Amino acid sequence: MAPDPRHAPLFEPIRVGNKIFRNRFYVAPHCSGLGVEYPGAQAYLRGMRAEGGWAAVNTEYCAVDAESDDAPWVQARLIDQRDQANLRLMVERVHQFDALAGVQLVYMGADHTGFVTRLPAGGPSQVTSSMSGHSCYALDKQDIRRIQRSYVEAAIRARDIGFDLVQIAAREGFSLPLQFLWKYWNHRTDEYGGSIENRTRFWRETIEQVREAVGDNCAIVAGFCLDSFNDESDRAFKVSDDGIAVVELLDDMVDLWDMQVGHLEDDVSSSRFFEPFWQRSYIEQVRPYAKKPIAAVGRFTDPELMARAIKDGVIDIIGAARPAIADPFIPTKIFEGHGDDIRECIGCNICVSRFNNGGGRIVCTQNATVGEEYRRGWHPEQFNESEMTEEPILIIGAGPAGMECARVLGERGFANVHLVERDDHIGGHVSWISELPGLRTWRRVVEYRESQLHKLTNVAVLTGQNLSADDVLDYGASTVIVATGAEWDPSGANPITHAPIPGADADFVYTPEQIMLDGIEVPGDRVLVYDCDGYFMGSSIAEKLASEGKTVTLVSPSDQIGSYLFFTDEGGHVHHNLLKLDVELVPSHVVTSIERGLVRGHNSYHSGKVSEWPVDSVVLVTQRLSRSSLYDELTRSPELLEENGITRVLRIGDCLEPRVIAESVFDGHRLAREIDTSNPAIPLPFIREQRILGWDADAYDSELTHTLPLEVSSHTTATVKSPQDRCADAFHSIRHG
Ligand SMILES: Cc1cc2nc3c(=O)[nH]c(=O)nc-3n(C[C@H](O)[C@H](O)[C@H](O)COP(=O)(O)O)c2cc1C
Ligand code: SF4
Repeated sequence: MAPDPRHAPLFEPIRVGNKIFRNRFYVAPHCSGLGVEYPGAQAYLRGMRAEGGWAAVNTEYCAVDAESDDAPWVQARLIDQRDQANLRLMVERVHQFDALAGVQLVYMGADHTGFVTRLPAGGPSQVTSSMSGHSCYALDKQDIRRIQRSYVEAAIRARDIGFDLVQIAAREGFSLPLQFLWKYWNHRTDEYGGSIENRTRFWRETIEQVREAVGDNCAIVAGFCLDSFNDESDRAFKVSDDGIAVVELLDDMVDLWDMQVGHLEDDVSSSRFFEPFWQRSYIEQVRPYAKKPIAAVGRFTDPELMARAIKDGVIDIIGAARPAIADPFIPTKIFEGHGDDIRECIGCNICVSRFNNGGGRIVCTQNATVGEEYRRGWHPEQFNESEMTEEPILIIGAGPAGMECARVLGERGFANVHLVERDDHIGGHVSWISELPGLRTWRRVVEYRESQLHKLTNVAVLTGQNLSADDVLDYGASTVIVATGAEWDPSGANPITHAPIPGADADFVYTPEQIMLDGIEVPGDRVLVYDCDGYFMGSSIAEKLASEGKTVTLVSPSDQIGSYLFFTDEGGHVHHNLLKLDVELVPSHVVTSIERGLVRGHNSYHSGKVSEWPVDSVVLVTQRLSRSSLYDELTRSPELLEENGITRVLRIGDCLEPRVIAESVFDGHRLAREIDTSNPAIPLPFIREQRILGWDADAYDSELTHTLPLEVSSHTTATVKSPQDRCADAFHSIRHG
């Protein structure tokens, strides 16, 4: 089979040092919340990309020294043989699918927290990190040699377990080589400070030493942040001079450039604010100076855009983090001409939010299987066929959970799945959320599932059908899954008071649905939006109304408006936009009452510090409530269910608990994978990779190969297969197709 000629450049092999990339797809380093603590999950997460056709797959940032301790954020580590043993599994898994394995070596400098090791960390100069909140010691020449030795030893450990690519990173606004490069960090006056040649010295020496130690066995990658972006000070690192100079100074030393622009929060660019491959103009500036291949990121999901970037000679290799999270099989799908099956990343950044929010495990709005490859045995493209495929299943509600559940049941071969939706289109709340400013790309959650459901002839999608409980009883299904979603609470009850706000029932007080779905135009000029949710809804509604010319006040009980948006790396941009639109931002304030013309509240920390806001209308974004009346009515009378041949009624997604879209998709996916068990409402156990006292090393290791005899608790005894069998089956099919 040959790829579409338009995409052929993406599949031309390319030499990188002593290694050959089988095609032009490279998974950029990205965190997973797994590190070396969850070696099985780490191995299967990365291995899935190798199986999906990527030529090279990286780890997340990987500490070279105990002084680079970033807890509670979870990084990889290669500081001793234990780390080596755990990362070996990833390398083996990646090699099993003929891909190259890459490791990103870092020493975090002042950004390290030291929360586990309690060690101080060194930096080029003694400056305080805005990330860790503390300072560092200024490295003297002996310290520099010692840290460089750590890089070399970590690289040797990487080589010895088979890593093919060793990256010495100066990426994302962090790590020691970058701190030497940027005047923002480096205030030295010796041969490591001042001119760009001097500031590049640490990186150059480190690369030289690592190359000397491992260079014949491993290709050397320079992970390079080309430009400090959004920095207009005289300390900014600019691609137009510093970036070009560094490429000229180091090009002869490296085998591959892995380029990106800006700090992590800009680089992990949300689709609300950045177009795909917005980095192009930066890379074009250094391209003439780089003879070595360039890989670069750009939220690449469109095969045409990827092919153009290569054909135009701007880059040689497509780098990707989020696109590979959302769909590990992008290369294979493009190669086989199934580009329309790509599960496109929506650029929502829920993935990075889990990491930013204390190092949590990776999740994805589009791909429910990410991070579950090992512990639940889920494969994004393979589904074990059920032994009860004749079971007639009715799903009520075609929002994210319902759509995903129907899709996976369809993939599993269920012959009679009906997905019934009240509206005249599927998508649930994502349909109107994606009409909010900047959220158009979120439509892909619906579009992907719509196109997949269309291909599944065993799933009937019926819109415009508002089923009552009686309709459901009559329907003829034996399994009923209620996925009727949630709605914003009009009473103003919220996480702070757990009580309604007096006056919330007035005719000038609205919920987001009333504005977005019912198309209500809020009366008057002055609108107060009360946001207790902290994610995108409050600020999006404020932005929409301000863009329409309203005078908007956005009040939040939290110290930061839209506090969760800082985990998705969108907070700064959202604030910037709101301020540009003259939205008045009022954090740390609780609303206590609403009356015509006036909203009252007080400071979150002092009820005596009272505030009043003159208003014409109010929008309450306080909390969401499950729309569960149908589920409640059905489950109230088990006899009626039995009489009508309904053996079980289950609920999923926001109908069970209102959460982010990623969790609804996960919930629908999980239920469909586990529908065969005696009580699929209760999730099957999963492999926890927990070291257990009293177990010998063999028993622990055996868990890593899925033969550990985990006890299945009585309430989760599977009627069809135990979770271990399920995992074994899934992995059998991974290996043998
Ligand atoms: C969840 C997540 C974690 C990341 N962690 C790292 C990291 O450990 N090291 C690094 O250099 N870049 C990291 N990045 C940045 C990515 O390598 C990449 O440059 C960025 O996501 C933009 O590429 P994309 O548009 O393909 O996602 C991370 C990105 C994400 C989404
Ligand atoms: S969570 Fe959102 S941004 Fe991250 S990979 Fe998935 S779809 Fe893309």
